[in-house]
Amino acid sequence: METRFSVPQGSFELTRPGVGPRSPLRAWDSADEYVLGELPEQVGLRRLILNDAYGALAVALAGEETISISDSFVALTTARSNLALNRRDEPTMGSSVQPMPENLDLVIIKVPRTLSLLEHQLHQIRVVCSPTTTIIGAGMTKNIHSSTVDLFERIIGSTTTSLAKKKARLIHPVFDPDLSPGDSPWPQEAELNVGPPHGEVRVSVQAGVFAGPKLDLGARVLLGALPSKAERVLDLGCGNGIIGTVLARQLGCHVTFLDESYLAIEAARSTFALQNLDSTADFVVGDAGAGLQSEQFDLVLNNPPFHESNAITDATAWRMFIEARRVLVAGGELRVVANRHLGYHVKLKRVFGNCETVSSTRKFVVLSCVAGGS
Ligand SMILES: C[S@@+](CC[C@H](N)C(=O)[O-])C[C@H]1O[C@@H](n2cnc3c(N)ncnc32)[C@H](O)[C@@H]1O
Repeated sequence: METRFSVPQGSFELTRPGVGPRSPLRAWDSADEYVLGELPEQVGLRRLILNDAYGALAVALAGEETISISDSFVALTTARSNLALNRRDEPTMGSSVQPMPENLDLVIIKVPRTLSLLEHQLHQIRVVCSPTTTIIGAGMTKNIHSSTVDLFERIIGSTTTSLAKKKARLIHPVFDPDLSPGDSPWPQEAELNVGPPHGEVRVSVQAGVFAGPKLDLGARVLLGALPSKAERVLDLGCGNGIIGTVLARQLGCHVTFLDESYLAIEAARSTFALQNLDSTADFVVGDAGAGLQSEQFDLVLNNPPFHESNAITDATAWRMFIEARRVLVAGGELRVVANRHLGYHVKLKRVFGNCETVSSTRKFVVLSCVAGGS
């Protein structure tokens, strides 16, 4: 892995979790290099960075007046370790569920994967910016579409884009004080039909959270193959909380909802509350289950992610399986849904020593492993 990040602000060492020395993946992209190379000199120092993936922007721009906000627990944690590695003062770090800071001179917004999160964030920054704030969007050309630029036009003001450089592009909106784009349309609620025997479930839909106002196909398959007994359950990578909520509704069990996305945890909290259940729940922002006490659940439910940042990888799924094994009591079960072609039963067998198929469709399998089994 290439680790030396050289930009006009300095030369830094940047690492990315779970990436081996021979991997082509790096902790930054050419949009980071592009935006740091083009920063206007005359802007003041109160800077907001949104959606920095592994801390490249925070490390380069570290200083008292820099604030870095992300929806990703993993991104914030990695940024902190890269700041420490480079002995840089830690900027103020915040999550996407905190209010946006005010009196900003500069906002750099790395274009997020989903348009809904971009839309929500542009509404949030519009409220705290003024015509004196320089706002720059940065992203890889493959993630910048006319719909992306339209959002900047509609919410911030007249927008131009730069020429592409190393497959990256910058977006330059000019703050228009006379625009009235209204409030952010997020969060919303949606009624999902999750199929028999569960029927309709009302869910909270937060900007950028997995599956949006729809039910993921894999989640649907797992919901059709839930166990009939459990008391202490972990919904690992819970997204909007649909899986744990349906189980709590059915069994009255205690569910801990865990995700690395702050907005996902907000969505799960609201989804659970919308059901008015008597059972209780915990809501945890964390990385794959690290930090949870060992041997405390009798069931872990998991529809694992297949990408980290913009890279397709099973590294997170692996870590989730290992953590699931650790947090289960002896005899407890991990139930996973996955695309059949991913061959996860091999990995699960390696972690648990056993793996059974509970149900399957043409595309998905639901796999079950027992902790302490053989
Ligand atoms: C395939 S989605 C499943 C969401 C939800 N359980 C469902 O079935 O609709 C995977 C979820 O894992 C979360 N995730 C990704 N990386 C994670 C990590 N390192 N730790 C915890 N959650 C993570 C994502 O934010 C996403 O919500």
